[in-house]
Amino acid sequence: MIKNIAVIRGDGIGPEIVAQTLRVLDRTAELYGHTFNYTDVDMGGCALDKYGDPLPESELKKCIASDSVLLGAVGGNKWNSVPADKRPEKGLLRLRAGMEVYSNNRPAKIWRQLADASPLKREIVDKGIDFIIVRELTGGIYFGEHRTENGNATDILRYSEKEIERIGRIGFETARKRRKRLCSVEKSNVLDSSRLWKKIMHSLAEEYPDVELSDMLVDNCAMQIVKEPSQFDVIVTENMFGDILSDEASMITGSIGMIPSSSLGAGTRGLYEPIHGSAPDIAGTDTANPVGTILSAAMMLRYSFDMKKEADSIERAVSEYLDCGYRTADIMSSGMKPVGCCQCGELITGFLR
Ligand code: IPM
Ligand code: MG
Repeated sequence: MIKNIAVIRGDGIGPEIVAQTLRVLDRTAELYGHTFNYTDVDMGGCALDKYGDPLPESELKKCIASDSVLLGAVGGNKWNSVPADKRPEKGLLRLRAGMEVYSNNRPAKIWRQLADASPLKREIVDKGIDFIIVRELTGGIYFGEHRTENGNATDILRYSEKEIERIGRIGFETARKRRKRLCSVEKSNVLDSSRLWKKIMHSLAEEYPDVELSDMLVDNCAMQIVKEPSQFDVIVTENMFGDILSDEASMITGSIGMIPSSSLGAGTRGLYEPIHGSAPDIAGTDTANPVGTILSAAMMLRYSFDMKKEADSIERAVSEYLDCGYRTADIMSSGMKPVGCCQCGELITGFLR
């Protein structure tokens, strides 16, 4: 197959982790007889420096014209004082909205090789950590009106029934393919938008009698994720709650550097990115962990290109790399072999079959 991939290297460690991921993709293409064409897209702080805009229209168009988008990371302290609508993160939000990828899938799964890297007690980890957060990505407080005037700041959190219903369906469909348990997370004891959320989840539940739906308040969920993560299969939640809970969930698996994500809309074209940030403090030092991005590329092959064998091969290669005791700094523990970003990419490439 021939696939056109838009590649956003971005800022900070973005270019390094993406370079290693392209290496893995190239070798996969070679092994399985595919052609991946890459189109570089500027987004984030680097685009702001170059064009005065974190995501110029022409760059967004390249993403929309692609078969899928691979993204490293954007942002950094360098752009902390630029106006809100020029911030690198604004480019990312406009990309998500422009591609209409409303469903963000963030797995929290512990690699057995990394059980000791989890900050949780071993007895909790051993019960299993394997759940997915389905985060609504193009609505809610991120996209409501933001205004600051006369010493008052306002951010509007609004959801329409339609927006809740379509993400709810993704939640139910995802659960149906797994252990069939869906936990809808909201703050219905305080927020109207959450009360609407809960109501719609329950009306959808009638169409999915095989899936067990439960409700949980977001503050309780934050606690349950560290207390008893094995209870979760699929969590479906709104944009900001999903942002916060997915950072928490990643940490209990050992490192945020290991977690990939997919963002999809109505079609097969997706946006694939690790869930971590651009880590400007370690940029250029060859110490970043490229695995989150490499696994994001595997998700791209699986969900957007229907290349299951190829995706399995990448995931297996990552597992073998960990089996051999190689560790980047973020997941280093005693007795393991330290590697940098480049060497990590090279080793994983070598394990592809
Ligand atoms: C994420 C990030 C982004 C978000 C930022 C960079 C805008 O934290 O992907 O989780 O809040 O969605
Ligand atoms: Mg986040």
